Amino acid sequence: MNKLAFFNLKGGVGKTTSAVNIAWHAAQDGIPTLLWDLDPQGAASWLLHRKAKSKSEPKKVLAGKTAIGELVKATDYPNLDIIPADFSFREFDVLLSDITDKQNAVDKLLAPFSERYALIILDCPPSFSTLSEQIFDTADVLYMPLIPTHLSLRTFEQTRDFFKQHKLKPKRLRPFFNMVDRRRSLHRVMISHPPKMLKNGLQSTIPYAAVVERMGDFQAPLGSFAENTPVAQAYANLWQEIKADFP
Ligand SMILES: Nc1ncnc2c1ncn2[C@@H]1O[C@H](COP(=O)(O)OP(=O)(O)OP(=O)(O)O)[C@@H](O)[C@H]1O
Ligand SMILES: [Mg+2]
Repeated sequence: MNKLAFFNLKGGVGKTTSAVNIAWHAAQDGIPTLLWDLDPQGAASWLLHRKAKSKSEPKKVLAGKTAIGELVKATDYPNLDIIPADFSFREFDVLLSDITDKQNAVDKLLAPFSERYALIILDCPPSFSTLSEQIFDTADVLYMPLIPTHLSLRTFEQTRDFFKQHKLKPKRLRPFFNMVDRRRSLHRVMISHPPKMLKNGLQSTIPYAAVVERMGDFQAPLGSFAENTPVAQAYANLWQEIKADFP
């Protein structure tokens, strides 16, 4: 079972959009995939039209009173299931930091899924916390959407430094550019001459495109309603590159 996460300390850079579209591509490729929405805002759940079950109290899940499998919901797409989030998950982080058992709770919760899924995708909230530390430790690769701006690169640097301090392998951090607007010279320059710190970056870039917002109208992944658009094609390419990270 491979595990990947979409993470960025910065909000609104395309973590959820990417997690949903990549999960859909993986599922379309015949890979049994579970998307775990770890953000209490529940955006990934909403985009896939699924709500958390009322008994999804994180306290019970962490205490083993509710089996995590009970929180899984099928989506409208074959091979794609989701653990939806709701606002009750805002406690999850605090609960995690209170646990004295040093074992990674996120990893432990995912273990029983290894017979059911070949791929786990984690959609992360934009923060450094106990939850994100456990995600960093659990995920085989962290994909980080970056908008091609200087401030975005600064956040990338902070994340990379955090990894170094915590002795996490930086090769597991793979940035890629999202919301690329080729009319902007800074965007063009960053893509043609990416800074050295992005040497582990993905080649695929995702353009800025208004149709991405329409995922909210359809509550569906791009490929299911706008397959022939350049941005949907860009996500198809991104998926091919991500797939190659898991030979
Ligand atoms: N390539 C794109 N082109 C245009 N709009 C985009 C693109 N990618 C994402 N968006 C839009 O940007 C907004 C933020 O995207 P998204 O929710 O995926 O970011 P996020 O990093 O998950 O945010 P948060 O940190 O709040 O969880 C959304 O409205 C989304 O539709
Ligand atoms: Mg998000």
